[in-house]
Amino acid sequence: MANNLFIRKSIDKILGQAEATGEHQFKRTLNVTHLVMLGIGAIIGAGLFVRTAAAAAEHAGPSVVYSYILAGIGCAFAGLCYAEFASSIPIAGSAYTYSYATLGEFVAWIIGWELILEYGLGAATVAIAWSEYLNKLCEKVFHFTIPYQWCHSPMEKLYDSAGNVLATGIMNIPALVILLLLTLLLIRGTHESALVNALIVIVKVSIVILFIIFGWQFIKPENHTPFIPPSQPYVDMNGTSHTFGGLMGILAGAGTVFFAFIGFDAVSTAAQEAKNPKRDMPLGILLSLAICTVLYILFSYVLTGVATTEDFRTHGREASVAFAIQQYMTGYGWLATFVTVAILAGFSSVILVMLLGQSRVFYSMSRDGLVPKIFSDVHPKFKTPWKSNLIFLVFTGLFAAFIPGSLTGDLTSIGTLSAFVLVSAGVWIMRVNQPDLPRAFRTPLVPFVPIMGVLVCGAMMFGLDERTWQGFLGWTALGLIVYFLFSRKHSVARKEASGNK
Ligand code: ALA
Repeated sequence: MANNLFIRKSIDKILGQAEATGEHQFKRTLNVTHLVMLGIGAIIGAGLFVRTAAAAAEHAGPSVVYSYILAGIGCAFAGLCYAEFASSIPIAGSAYTYSYATLGEFVAWIIGWELILEYGLGAATVAIAWSEYLNKLCEKVFHFTIPYQWCHSPMEKLYDSAGNVLATGIMNIPALVILLLLTLLLIRGTHESALVNALIVIVKVSIVILFIIFGWQFIKPENHTPFIPPSQPYVDMNGTSHTFGGLMGILAGAGTVFFAFIGFDAVSTAAQEAKNPKRDMPLGILLSLAICTVLYILFSYVLTGVATTEDFRTHGREASVAFAIQQYMTGYGWLATFVTVAILAGFSSVILVMLLGQSRVFYSMSRDGLVPKIFSDVHPKFKTPWKSNLIFLVFTGLFAAFIPGSLTGDLTSIGTLSAFVLVSAGVWIMRVNQPDLPRAFRTPLVPFVPIMGVLVCGAMMFGLDERTWQGFLGWTALGLIVYFLFSRKHSVARKEASGNK
């Protein structure tokens, strides 16, 4: 048994631990509206305000609208599976916790390892995007620009229109600073309150709607023609080649903008606090996804109609939404400032949620013996896993400071997609292997929905470029080495199964 790769952690044990740490005593107070607010708070962020333009520039042009539709469909299938997974273990947790009890240690390890990409690199990506918009704000309000070298990674260069290099990045300091500030807040035990979350959601949704309404009149039909650009290779100024145009461009764009949907799993972690989880969980997940998908489709339609694909490759590469407003929407300068300030606040809340998610997953993995104990050392006064937070500050900080957002963003997407593929497949496997396990919510149309989850999420992974795949495979290989050299030997479940606790 102890040699079994698929050893499972007992559900009683998980519940016992949750009870001991007080995680189990939630009040059932959340209704569908609360869940949807929670979802949208975690979902709308850098994906929409930064990665949309990147996907248009590098992959899809205006057909990024179709990329959003595809990514939304993939998330809906995966989200339905996620909801069953979450509801079968009646505690708050992540895909890691659920899979340890159902699919076994090895799959749980892989999912936990890929979740580091989702949360850790996701936080770094949003921090890099935050830095872009901070610069825009400095420019607009204080008429001051942070020197290019100090707000870009060494892998980025600034070119003039003749293609000469004007500056090379050294380190992205603003991205590092925002991660540092939010990590310190997290160590002090700051959790965003429901009220702050609600305010941020209202502001975020308002700027999206305002941009759609005001921007609509500035759409130029020629920017949307052809809507699906012909397939052609595109090599960016840094020499990286991308799949652009045609169906493959849409698919690659979907992999990139998938980032904009990450976070809807936050809804499933609130299963314990929902008044009526059976009905409200899937509703909460699907409604937040549906609202975001509609907003994303309209927003990307307007953005690619107001500015050109070429803009997103050159002057509008950074802080693209503020750029489009300033450049093309005459008379709406106030909107650019409002959008920039709102985005800075909105991004901060997304980073906080991601850093929190990261430390929670590693806390659980550390309690299970799969990663060193230091990750579950709790601060005597603040009761937070502060050492873990500081270690992840170094990890996410290194990425934020020295790697461009396009790479960290796509790595976040591929890591999360791989976890969703496993979750979707896992739901089907569990229906076969453990048909009697009580489930508060059952995914409809099994195996159709899980199969579609695997196929659509798998297709989006396939669309991502070679550089992203290399990073992903390297990361996964590193995860396997750590598992076989460290985690297997220290696994608490394994020790208990062989009787030497
Ligand atoms: N979906 C989140 C964002 O776009 C991660 O920032």
